[in-house]
Amino acid sequence: MKILIIGAGKMGEAILKAWLLKKFSFKINISVSEVNTRRRGIIKNRYSQLSIHKDIPISWKGDLVLIAVKPQTFNNMAESFHSKKIDTKIVLSIMAGISLDKLKKLVCLETTYVRAMPNLASSKGKGVTGVYSNKIGNLNNKNKVQILLEALGSVFWLKNELQFDPLTAISGSGPAYFFLIFLILKNTAKSFGFTDRIASDLILNTAEGAVEIFKENSNLEKLIEDVASPGGTTEAALEVLMKNKPNLISILNKAILTANKRSKKLGKNAKRL
Ligand SMILES: NC(=O)c1ccc[n+]([C@@H]2O[C@H](COP(=O)([O-])OP(=O)(O)OC[C@H]3O[C@@H](n4cnc5c(N)ncnc54)[C@H](OP(=O)(O)O)[C@@H]3O)[C@@H](O)[C@H]2O)c1
Repeated sequence: MKILIIGAGKMGEAILKAWLLKKFSFKINISVSEVNTRRRGIIKNRYSQLSIHKDIPISWKGDLVLIAVKPQTFNNMAESFHSKKIDTKIVLSIMAGISLDKLKKLVCLETTYVRAMPNLASSKGKGVTGVYSNKIGNLNNKNKVQILLEALGSVFWLKNELQFDPLTAISGSGPAYFFLIFLILKNTAKSFGFTDRIASDLILNTAEGAVEIFKENSNLEKLIEDVASPGGTTEAALEVLMKNKPNLISILNKAILTANKRSKKLGKNAKRL
């Protein structure tokens, strides 16, 4: 499969790395276009086997173009696209807030357009990616996108484009919610006298154990009940988390709804770019 990545910043590189590490059943040939001199130097150093250029090639024919530039620089990028001869079966964009309509309008190629929203853990192959296309073309295109995105972790096809906002609020921002809880637990463990190392290990192993149990049993209310025996320590802790006003549930709900709102607003701003 012949791929052109435009923009090898944080996310572009995370995806590039995941694709290079993955053992696909087909050959993969990746070229990179990165305007930023410093970033291009880093990428050339790390992936010397690849063809890495400043500009989008004058002429390129292949299977998939990945657009991984910032939404603010997309207009400029799209302009430079028009003077080139690009022939691709799929254009895959990971730009936050750039709708498929806008993507088609600016890229202006007769091809299949797909929009995806990966998250930070994609670089570890443990990411969560939401994906949508209103016209995937043929099953072959859908399979290709599915296989490529699976190299980043789990893939969820969305029912419509509006679902990108809640997806961003849950799985896009999600790692930060967990990091915050880990940080609070870690600092509290340290305040009890545990070393930094032991505090980290306590949190990490507890989280890994909880995830393993959740994988086997999705009844979270029951799982909480299993840990919180009547009159015990967990029950005492949960009482503080749930009975105070606002309780943890309403704080987290409000936080996620606010993230959802912000995502919508950023999408509206992107329309005006
Ligand atoms: N970071 C995340 O966790 C995350 C998660 C999901 C989706 N995304 C989306 O992924 C996209 C990239 O985000 P990022 O965090 O990776 O941004 P980033 O680190 O700024 O990477 C974008 C790179 O593309 C370069 N670039 C700009 N215009 C270009 C052009 N015409 N041709 C080639 N390269 C060009 C930029 O150079 P300059 O810096 O010189 O402009 C920069 O090095 C964004 O649209 C974002 O919404 C990011």
